[in-house]
Amino acid sequence: MSLVTASPPLDVEAVRGDFPILAQQVNGHPLAYLDNAASSQRPLQVLEAMQNYYTHDHANVHRGVHSLSHRATDHYEAARETVRAFVNAASVREIIFTRGTTEAINLVAFSFGQRLQAGDEILITAMEHHSNIVPWQLLCERSGAVLRVAPINDAGELVLAEFMALLGPRTKLVAVTHVSNALGTVNPVKVLIAAARSRGIPVLLDGAQAIPHQAVDVRDLDCDFYAFSGHKMCGPTGIGVLYGREAMLQDLPPFQSGGDMILTVSFKGTTYNELPYRFEAGTPHIAGAIGLAAAMNYLTRLGLPSIAAWEAGLLSYATGLLLQLPGLSIVGTARDKASLVSFNIAGIHPHDLGTILDQRGVAIRAGHHCAMPVMERFGLAGTARASFAFYNTRGEIDQLLDALRLAQRMFA
Ligand code: ALA
Repeated sequence: MSLVTASPPLDVEAVRGDFPILAQQVNGHPLAYLDNAASSQRPLQVLEAMQNYYTHDHANVHRGVHSLSHRATDHYEAARETVRAFVNAASVREIIFTRGTTEAINLVAFSFGQRLQAGDEILITAMEHHSNIVPWQLLCERSGAVLRVAPINDAGELVLAEFMALLGPRTKLVAVTHVSNALGTVNPVKVLIAAARSRGIPVLLDGAQAIPHQAVDVRDLDCDFYAFSGHKMCGPTGIGVLYGREAMLQDLPPFQSGGDMILTVSFKGTTYNELPYRFEAGTPHIAGAIGLAAAMNYLTRLGLPSIAAWEAGLLSYATGLLLQLPGLSIVGTARDKASLVSFNIAGIHPHDLGTILDQRGVAIRAGHHCAMPVMERFGLAGTARASFAFYNTRGEIDQLLDALRLAQRMFA
């Protein structure tokens, strides 16, 4: 992540006070929660926003004429406005609440996908999460379209020349991760988007691993779709967002169908609601949207540049320490990396590492990280992955190192 030098430093000890879950012992050791790329923790401000909503204001939205329904609708739509402002979308009509990144990408694959015909191409990269691979594979099966995959190099960076060469007259969509969950690579998405859009090709970004760590401006990026999850950015599980450029969404057929996404239904036919409701079938996760907005307000108050600066410091500290361990190799050494380190230690399976670390209170993820093609690219069964958030400390990274040294002694 790029550093913004003028950003005020975070008061991390004060910030940790907002996250009571962090102040616990696990297996007799202080918890060092280093699995933030899988799911972050939530501050009290998010928990209180949801608690307040359920305690005082809950009813269904967009339906009732009574006061609680009006209040719930107001909260839900205010949350949409918070999301709009957070990503700098032009209109709330461009903000669709989903269950998460995966559902957001599936929405595009289903709705936009209906435009595709046999022989059309979808271009992804070799560093995608399964959620940005499998929906396109299914679309290819349905439509006869072809999935093209731009390769990555040994550092885990996209090979730009190959990506550009794969953009062709048949390419109908580019779907790329903003930040790799398995490698930490930050993709040069503005370059990719400019190249695609100059050829009239729409671009979807999987922003799940980017938006917790850096300011995202969808208009500056000039992407057509941006998908992300609440739970990786201190919000609730079960809520996420699809940003879609209005001109693009306007022409797309609905995804799921049922309540809220219709205007009229008769047995002769159905007319659909306006944006964004056309893509929100059924009672939404109202409390989730409210919690997500509270998380965005929280991150905004801390300052995304300050968050990015602190996390960049953690990444370089962790990288330096890990490389001191004999037999340790880092998988993913891109020049521009988010705050996570995937690694292997010779002779120790990542799952064993994860289990031993847990005995010392250190939570990491071990395995293929839902990115099996990345593991295949590097000839690995999996990696251990420590992923940092703004509330992590250098002390926790020291704890990780001590636990890794213990694992090495156990396997010596
Ligand atoms: N995609 C999440 C991760 O990388 C679950 O761990």
